[in-house]
Amino acid sequence: MITRLKKLNPDPILGIVSKFKMDNNPKKINLSVGEFVDQSNVYKFRAVKKIEKSFHMNYRYLPIPGCPDFIEKSRNFVYGSNNYYLGYQTISGTGSLWLANQILNLVNLKNVITADITWPNHNQIFNITDTYKYSTNLDSLLIKINESKNTTFLFQSCCHNPTGIDYSKDNWDTIADEINKNDHTVIMDNAYQGLASGNPQVDNYSIKALDKMNIPMIVCSSYAKNFGLYNQRLGSLFTNFEAENLDDYIKKIIRSSYSNPPAFGTLIFNKIIDDHYDEWETECLDLTKTLKNNRELLYAKLKIKNITWDNLVDGNGLFYLSPLNESQINTLSQEHSIYMLKNGRINIAGINKNNIDYIVEKISEL
Ligand code: LMR
Repeated sequence: MITRLKKLNPDPILGIVSKFKMDNNPKKINLSVGEFVDQSNVYKFRAVKKIEKSFHMNYRYLPIPGCPDFIEKSRNFVYGSNNYYLGYQTISGTGSLWLANQILNLVNLKNVITADITWPNHNQIFNITDTYKYSTNLDSLLIKINESKNTTFLFQSCCHNPTGIDYSKDNWDTIADEINKNDHTVIMDNAYQGLASGNPQVDNYSIKALDKMNIPMIVCSSYAKNFGLYNQRLGSLFTNFEAENLDDYIKKIIRSSYSNPPAFGTLIFNKIIDDHYDEWETECLDLTKTLKNNRELLYAKLKIKNITWDNLVDGNGLFYLSPLNESQINTLSQEHSIYMLKNGRINIAGINKNNIDYIVEKISEL
């Protein structure tokens, strides 16, 4: 049987990374994928460097839901408290969102709505049916919440990808009230906890605000950026959904897909939480300061060239949605080897003192 499948466009994020890798220009700069880069490698936390030297590996399979100790520690990290919710170790944030979608299918919740500006993978994981305009004035979101029935709203807890602009605490309280009044459910994508304020127990305000009102919610977390464990694919999923036998069904989904998750990342995460937590938190705060400095420096240097990028300094986390258009973005990559996403997203963590002047110069020449 010969079947022709329609040609697909490259992935809007990882496709750019492939192009970057093929570029031979020694001056090339990668401002695309959300990695915290230190010189030319991803940033490694001091605690991780210490811990990774001290392992006695045990290659026995983990249980289907994952490492029990990791799930408990992760629960405390995500909610700031211990609760009785169902919890699973997942294949990082993407795997957690994928599992969340399987759970929504199980309980017949198929309408997922999210912001019009979001991480592109959300659309293909959840087959998004409808969107609202992303804005901290909430107008479009509140209309959507009130006119929708039996719907799941997909939110990002902090460091909004791609804008970097987050809802305030007051915004989250309003959102929690309205979601509650209208009996909706929520998926919370929690991929950057700690990298907004430097304090993970501040950055989870959104989760706590919705949880306090007992809103049915699935919280999907990634430990790629906040623990620097990108290729270990470590994540978690917690849910307060009340459905008889749900745990058995979730375990069946895991068993029939990846069977059980990998272990190495859990050993690092567990040890950081047990023995290096303060050191990790201090470093996490330092990283948020680096990101803030990068934003301020880029803003100031562009300003000297008479370019004003609104909202750049107010943003949280790794990303800024620049006003550059597609043809300008193509010029930057094709002529100057500066790579960013086609929608204008820049990874602020890819900027450093060695490349900032070149970036500013080339943007000012557009
Ligand atoms: C990003 O948005 O760049 C990251 O979340 C990495 C990814 O998998 O897309």
